[in-house]
Amino acid sequence: MSDKRPSWGSKLGVMLAAAGSAVGLGNMWRFPFSTAQNGGGSFLLIYLICAFSIGLSLVFAEAALGMKVRSDPTDAFGWISPKLRFIGVLCVLTSIVILPYYSVVGGWILAYVFKVFTFSSGEDFNAVFNDFSTATTEPLIYFLLYLTATATIVYFGIQNGIEKFSKVMMPLLLVLLVVLMVRVLMLDKAWDGVVFFFRPDFSKLTGETMLNAMGQVFFSISVGMGIYITYGSYVKKDSVTVCQLMWPVIVLDILVSLLAGLTVFPAVFSFDVPINAGPSLIFITLPQIFVSIPFGRFFGFMFFVILLGAAATSSISLLEVAVTFMCDQLKMTRRAAVVRFSVLCLTIGTLVSMSFGRLSGFTVAGKNLFDQFDFLASNILLPTGGFLTCIAIGWVLGCDKLVVFQNKFLQRCFTLCIKWIAPAAIVLILLKGLNIL
Ligand code: PFF
Repeated sequence: MSDKRPSWGSKLGVMLAAAGSAVGLGNMWRFPFSTAQNGGGSFLLIYLICAFSIGLSLVFAEAALGMKVRSDPTDAFGWISPKLRFIGVLCVLTSIVILPYYSVVGGWILAYVFKVFTFSSGEDFNAVFNDFSTATTEPLIYFLLYLTATATIVYFGIQNGIEKFSKVMMPLLLVLLVVLMVRVLMLDKAWDGVVFFFRPDFSKLTGETMLNAMGQVFFSISVGMGIYITYGSYVKKDSVTVCQLMWPVIVLDILVSLLAGLTVFPAVFSFDVPINAGPSLIFITLPQIFVSIPFGRFFGFMFFVILLGAAATSSISLLEVAVTFMCDQLKMTRRAAVVRFSVLCLTIGTLVSMSFGRLSGFTVAGKNLFDQFDFLASNILLPTGGFLTCIAIGWVLGCDKLVVFQNKFLQRCFTLCIKWIAPAAIVLILLKGLNIL
């Protein structure tokens, strides 16, 4: 690739931007309710095993490919074999599906950053959330603001936009999350939540919970849509290894999931609110808690700001995959690529946002547009992308062409994961996603 290709300004910048992609709503919104629904500690155990094996090897494989080819996923897979270029196009398609609905939730969070100050005790937060999410104009305004902010950061480019934002946001997020966790752990009965989170209940360990944990790893670590190929393609050619750059992705992803669990569960247990609230857990259950503790609104504000930062660094990476594709393949300027793709997402996202209100009657197989997009992305597109990546790298290219570890034993484990374990696990997730299993 040409020398004109932009690059990251520092090693820390790549590390935090890549970790920022992984750490997001998946850790702080999806992980707590999935853990609650799948039996607590035993789910956590499977999640950890899958993250360290399948998740880690896929992140390293994607990043190594990007660092080698230094172009977008289409060229990267095309370098392995011209017949595989379509996988790169699939990555862009996946971002067209995920970014709009992810940004709708991002807009909700932005709204709650302000709303938390207007909450009063005794309020029916179920109704508050319902009224807000089913309205037309208000959620659309927040969605528009959220998407515009994402697009602006990506427009400023790799070093001045994504890297600078991630370098501020990621440390801030960790500090705020630790402060919040300490506060919550001081509540009465908080320990019950900790016990629920960590104590493995092996009677709940079914095939289904194991597959849910694997699915959570894919979504949470952002593998299967070329994000680390894209980010890796902006790494300057020097002596730095894949391992040195990408280890924080897994470590921070797991750490933030643990911190989120140690914040949400103790809070939920100490207020005796239903643990199985599902996706609405943080929008309905947590505000109830924030209005009942001293300085609760301030802590609630902090919680939603953390969530907003985490979501933003993930949305940025989703947009960057498409922008890099449009710049590298369609030879567009960054500005044109950002504007065009954002307008496309704005259009799709508007329909997705309205699928809770005016368009709620429009369902396919009983699911509204939002649920359709989430299902398509998490259960079909990401696992398919991950599977094709494993086949391309493990079988067509050969893992020996991508040296990820200097240590022979670790490189052999990596090969085993990419060639056998990850593809087999993904096929199981896909079959389950399609209700065949
Ligand atoms: N990993 C992000 C999260 O945990 O919120 C979500 C995500 C981003 C999924 C990018 C997939 C993706 F390609």
